[in-house]
Amino acid sequence: MIKTIGACKRSLARATREIRSFKAFALAAASDFQSIASIAPSSRHLACAMLEGLPIDSATTVVELGAGTGAITRVLLEKLPRHATLLAFEINPDLIQCMRESFSDPRLVLVNSRAENLGRELHRRGYQRVDAVVSSLSLRFMPDDRQRIMLETLDPFMDERSVYTQYQYVHGLRFENGKARRHTSLPFLSQYFDSIKCRTIWRNLPPAQVFTCRGRFRNGPALQARARTKPHSAGSLASEQA
Ligand SMILES: C[S@@+](CC[C@H](N)C(=O)[O-])C[C@H]1O[C@@H](n2cnc3c(N)ncnc32)[C@H](O)[C@@H]1O
Repeated sequence: MIKTIGACKRSLARATREIRSFKAFALAAASDFQSIASIAPSSRHLACAMLEGLPIDSATTVVELGAGTGAITRVLLEKLPRHATLLAFEINPDLIQCMRESFSDPRLVLVNSRAENLGRELHRRGYQRVDAVVSSLSLRFMPDDRQRIMLETLDPFMDERSVYTQYQYVHGLRFENGKARRHTSLPFLSQYFDSIKCRTIWRNLPPAQVFTCRGRFRNGPALQARARTKPHSAGSLASEQA
């Protein structure tokens, strides 16, 4: 009987938390759809798919980009070892506040800053390498130069064992000058990673493709251009353009 009451209380707490997250997410999407780029937080199926193939069991440092209300953060925290740190970047102040109210895990560091600043933020906290990067950023809405800056600031922190995961919705629609056209992040990611595995997760609203990217960064176009001009650290590139 006591066990049943306990289980009911936990279910009620989970339902209340989910309703609060949905509400915060919907309000944020209504006020800034360009950044949120979605109508609902990711499903648990998508969150689990994003973590498949990551070196989670042995991870010490994981970065999440675009944490939202924490749909993927929660699953990450369930799977990460006790000694690990999860640095979750999120630009929306209301969603950061929602995350603060929902999570009290000491492994979670919430960073209210743009993903493009991650080099500076990681250096400031003394990190030199990351095991995994889990990105929910909507690359289809992000200008190309910002996408490049974001990936290139990651470069010094990634090695051949590090893994980057990214999802994008299967419809892949991008609106430019009042016109809709299809967009896929695959060609862009292929400029940076040696190997990309792709799978579709239908149990999400909307369904999404997950890209699991490995291999040390190739010299992407901007890295090559930069090498041709003068030495320039990725961190300073981010801070100049942020
Ligand atoms: C599609 S939502 C994903 C939210 C959550 N991870 C999920 O899967 O439910 C993308 C999130 O990225 C955040 N975001 C957009 N651009 C960002 C940037 N440049 N740096 C950090 N966060 C960003 C948005 O505020 C939004 O919360």
